[in-house]
Amino acid sequence: MSSLTNKRVLLGITGGIAAYKSAELVRALKTAGAEVRVVMTSAAREFITPLTLQALSGNPVHHSLLDPEAEAGMGHIELARWADLMIIAPASADFIARLAAGMGNDLLTTLCLASNAPLALAPAMNQAMWRDTATQQNIQQLLSRSEKKPLIWGPAAGEQACGDVGPGRMLEPLELARLAAEQFASGALAGKTLLITAGPTREAIDPVRYISNHSSGKMGYALAEAARDAGARVILVSGPVNLPCPRAVERISVSSADEMLAAVQARINDCQIMIGAAAVADYKVASVAGQKIKKSADEMILTLIKNPDIIATVAALPNKPFVVGFAAETNDVENYARDKLKRKNLDMIVANDVSRSDIGFNSDDNAVTLFWAEQQQALPLASKHQVARGIIAAIATRLQEKP
Ligand code: PMT
Repeated sequence: MSSLTNKRVLLGITGGIAAYKSAELVRALKTAGAEVRVVMTSAAREFITPLTLQALSGNPVHHSLLDPEAEAGMGHIELARWADLMIIAPASADFIARLAAGMGNDLLTTLCLASNAPLALAPAMNQAMWRDTATQQNIQQLLSRSEKKPLIWGPAAGEQACGDVGPGRMLEPLELARLAAEQFASGALAGKTLLITAGPTREAIDPVRYISNHSSGKMGYALAEAARDAGARVILVSGPVNLPCPRAVERISVSSADEMLAAVQARINDCQIMIGAAAVADYKVASVAGQKIKKSADEMILTLIKNPDIIATVAALPNKPFVVGFAAETNDVENYARDKLKRKNLDMIVANDVSRSDIGFNSDDNAVTLFWAEQQQALPLASKHQVARGIIAAIATRLQEKP
């Protein structure tokens, strides 16, 4: 989490039982090198004392919009300008509603209006309140903003303080600190060249028909953007998709697995990192018909033969780059992912559960678990862009740790 060093994080705490975890979040951010200032709503002060947060952050805690003494120290506009990142944790249903309505009726909402820093909300509330139409509409309203769209970190699901079980738990402080670090991961891959495979492959049957899959390329393209933003030079070897080439990324368009392998082999020697996000067809037609096959018979049997394994080919190179594979699984996700990690000689694998319709193939969101050596890291449900930033941050950290 070295990317947090000297970063200025403004932590807003609103009224909820999870406020006690905010103390731990302050510690985690400070330990990672961030400078932290805390702003509390009046409800938050019913749950945890400003003194605790002042002691942990090493800075006075702000709470009143109309406090001449506080304004004489660091006024609310100065505070809004000071922040590199604003995190509201916990973000209560009431706070989210006020934010969605654009209100500025206390110090924290005013700061959100006045600051241009990225804003992250870590919702925490009873599961029924989280599921309530009003809360969901407020979240959607915030996410539909074209400018100053907040990041929504969580909530997690599980047992709640009130005894209910369901979504609404605040993410753990260490997880929030890690997500904060990701926001500043830019530059972490400076000087590196990274090759990403993305999208599906198409295996021809005849001149008009092919075998393929549902990959849209969204995950691979989001990774290309995240890697570019982290300072890497990016080569994107893409199967046929309907996505524009991301800015400042070199795209090589291919169709079949054989073409994808050839494009990868032509460029891999320049690369320090390879990510295989493509859904490569495992099989191709043994003998592609030169002309359109006529539908004369009631049955047709196609003989398929195995395609080359692109990522395993790269991972077998004597001077192999840092190789990251994806595992698209429908069941027993960890076992299959770990098996691929080992069998294909990868440095890391990103497992996604493609049995769910809300994540994986063709969706805008994903939820993945990264596995490497004996370790693992979950990246909870978020947009593919956010997940991609998490994957890139994890790769950058692993590369730093490598001897
Ligand atoms: O494109 P989207 O719609 O955004 O969807 C994203 C995704 C679900 C396609 C992506 O997140 C994903 O999981 N990609 C990998 C899909 C896959 O083919 O998984 P696999 O378990 O079959 O393959 C394991 C790894 O080997 C992958 O890194 C794959 O790219 C690679 N592979 C597989 C076969 C092959 N012949 N060559 C390969 O390089």
